Amino acid sequence: MKFRTIIEPFKIKSVESIHMSTEDERIKYLEAAHYNPFLLNSNQVIIDFLTDSGTSAMSNEQWAAMMRGDESYAGAQSWERFYNAIFDLTSYPFILPTHQGRAAERILYGHLGGEGKVFISNTHFDTTRANIEFSGATAYDIPIEESKNHDSNYSFKGNLDCDKLDTLITEHKSENIGAVILTVTNNSGGGQPVSMQNAKDVADICKKHNVLFILDCCRIAENSYFIKHREKGFENHTYKEIAQQMFALADGCVMSAKKDALVNMGGFLALNDEKLAEACTNLLIITEGFTTYGGLSGRDMEAIAVGLTEIFDKDYLYYRIKSTEYLGEKIREKGIPVMYPIGGHAVYINSAQLYDHIPLNQYPGQALVCELYRIGGVRCVEVGSVMFGKYDERGELIPAAMELVRLAIPRRVYTQSHVDYVIEVFDEIVKNKAQTKGYKIIKEPKLLRHFTAHFEKL
Ligand SMILES: Cc1ncc(COP(=O)(O)O)c(C=O)c1O
Repeated sequence: MKFRTIIEPFKIKSVESIHMSTEDERIKYLEAAHYNPFLLNSNQVIIDFLTDSGTSAMSNEQWAAMMRGDESYAGAQSWERFYNAIFDLTSYPFILPTHQGRAAERILYGHLGGEGKVFISNTHFDTTRANIEFSGATAYDIPIEESKNHDSNYSFKGNLDCDKLDTLITEHKSENIGAVILTVTNNSGGGQPVSMQNAKDVADICKKHNVLFILDCCRIAENSYFIKHREKGFENHTYKEIAQQMFALADGCVMSAKKDALVNMGGFLALNDEKLAEACTNLLIITEGFTTYGGLSGRDMEAIAVGLTEIFDKDYLYYRIKSTEYLGEKIREKGIPVMYPIGGHAVYINSAQLYDHIPLNQYPGQALVCELYRIGGVRCVEVGSVMFGKYDERGELIPAAMELVRLAIPRRVYTQSHVDYVIEVFDEIVKNKAQTKGYKIIKEPKLLRHFTAHFEKL
């Protein structure tokens, strides 16, 4: 590229205003939200980096397609367009539309799970783990060792440890394995990509043991970008071809369309195996809807079909990955310990390293999340012991493997000046570092506690 400035490869046609709150207002909002940014109202937030899920700006082509939405109960034309777009990409013949990713997870893992069953992944996303554990099964995360070194520049830190996979399957016996799930990119593991070689190795091991191999493919296009630019042999393949090759290795996929399908709601489950698809279809009809719409309206299916094409546009993917990298590199220059290399959809900060004076049972990640909001109105999420911590029999915290804070970037929503503003907020984070204190959980539900927990400032 001749120019250093990363321009957004789109023009703005419709705008949404942001309430520019003051710090005094935000202190009150945060207290009322029990120091849990999930409990803030969106109009109390200046820059919303809580999630990249369902927060994309749709294109004029997607809005136009929505007008074509065929809302017939059965066999709608929108279903055909949705089916063809997914089949073209994945080649899986059995496609089940769901209202979002976790509905596909509930159907598939609810069916495959239950007491005594085991699921193995590079890292289970929180809803994936929750659905598996809710069924009575056990979920094992086996990311490669390099993923634990935040400074290592290893290209594919999202990879799954194949030696451990082979051992775990042998130990638990093939018939007890619900599925092996490769999450691409690895969201809870830092948004890091998975290489094609790793997917091939996982596929080989699964075949050897006759175990089901599922892709959690919600960021498959972003993952394809990294493969093209980092893995030998893929330089001349298109992003879509790379995705297609990865789908060909697995037996099926679950997708939250709220990410790389560029829509605000939707998901699907796609499978090769007819018998498994039949069992899942029964659950789909009971809990989501009829086979040709599931949890979606016709217009949603139209928007997904268009989004799945737009996401592989080379100019879009360049802007997407480079602008995420820009944010990560700039705050790293300020001494903020970011997980390296910068992932696809988000920048992850090692909060335990930033606030090394805050013990893990006082949740350094929650402290950073609250500081970013107080100082700059920036909302983001803790991906550490609040999200994944457990308690031992004495009620002591068993901390998560990593204490990350995630700044997730909505697709096509914020401009470079928004990102530059966030970078400036980090100057204040650095200045206030020594005085920043931890938090105590005072109320929490049994599962997925980070969504609704209440905290008290220490
Ligand atoms: C890797 C991964 N899997 C599954 C999900 C669940 O998808 P949904 O939020 O659409 O239920 C998410 C959502 O963030 C995710 O990142």
